[in-house]
Amino acid sequence: MTRDPAAGSGVSAAAAALQERLADRRPSLALTMGSGLGGLAERIQDPLLIPYDVLPGWPRPTVAGHAGTAVSGWLGGVQVLGFGGRVHMYEGHEQERTAFYVRVLARLGVPVLFLSNAAGAINRSFAPGDLMLIADHINLMFRNPLIGPVESGEGRFPDMSDPYDPDMSDPYDPRLAEQVRLAAMELRIPVQEGVYAAVPGPSYETPAEIRMLDRLGADAVGMSTVPEVIAARASGIRCVAVSCLTNYAAGVSTEPLDHQEVLETGRRVAGDFQRLVTGSVQRIGALLEDAS
Ligand code: HPA
Repeated sequence: MTRDPAAGSGVSAAAAALQERLADRRPSLALTMGSGLGGLAERIQDPLLIPYDVLPGWPRPTVAGHAGTAVSGWLGGVQVLGFGGRVHMYEGHEQERTAFYVRVLARLGVPVLFLSNAAGAINRSFAPGDLMLIADHINLMFRNPLIGPVESGEGRFPDMSDPYDPDMSDPYDPRLAEQVRLAAMELRIPVQEGVYAAVPGPSYETPAEIRMLDRLGADAVGMSTVPEVIAARASGIRCVAVSCLTNYAAGVSTEPLDHQEVLETGRRVAGDFQRLVTGSVQRIGALLEDAS
């Protein structure tokens, strides 16, 4: 599995095309909307829609519930760039392709990435419809987006814990996570916290696999997010992520699993999810302003 040597230039071309579309807009936060959570894009004010088709080399999503459009605009008073739809490993993409847009964000100098996803609940004290702040992750995709030549601006062996940085104890920035907690309290939206395990999919897990993930320390399971976070941390982008727990993971309940349930639960909690993200983004914006 060798990286296409042209991949780096693919990132530059896409970054140039995206910046051209954005003109003088300078997003300070990117927002990735997971399965069934794309409705958040409608809350973005003064929207400028940028279909992925107009961006050279941009991977296109093929899954129901993923729009395939970037939206620039303002959310909670912060200039954001939303991504309605990502590509996954199970669509046949190498990890570096699933993280392509993150490398573009690094080129554009976007400092914060707010990710969301749909995930299955492993922790038995969680329930479908709960929102979960991702505290840390376990990469069980057995792939890594950084495999191949080192991209400019990235280290060869980036730290995913950074114990020497008082602000960064794992790939998810504690100061950003705190803003989500504070927004949740203010809006009275209950938020769980836990460890997200990423698996390749696309089949859902077996009950035995879920028991294994439980023993490994995972609270939720999904098929995205982790490659993007790894690429983001390699280039110094700060991450915060929220899962929408759309179903009990296999064997946790006797219900069969299907993608429709994932989308329906996403729609059911869309209101809370959108309010939580908007409130969190507003707070993160204030934090970024204080730092500048
Ligand atoms: N497993 C894996 N990915 C998922 C699930 C699940 O149960 N629900 C939503 N995405």
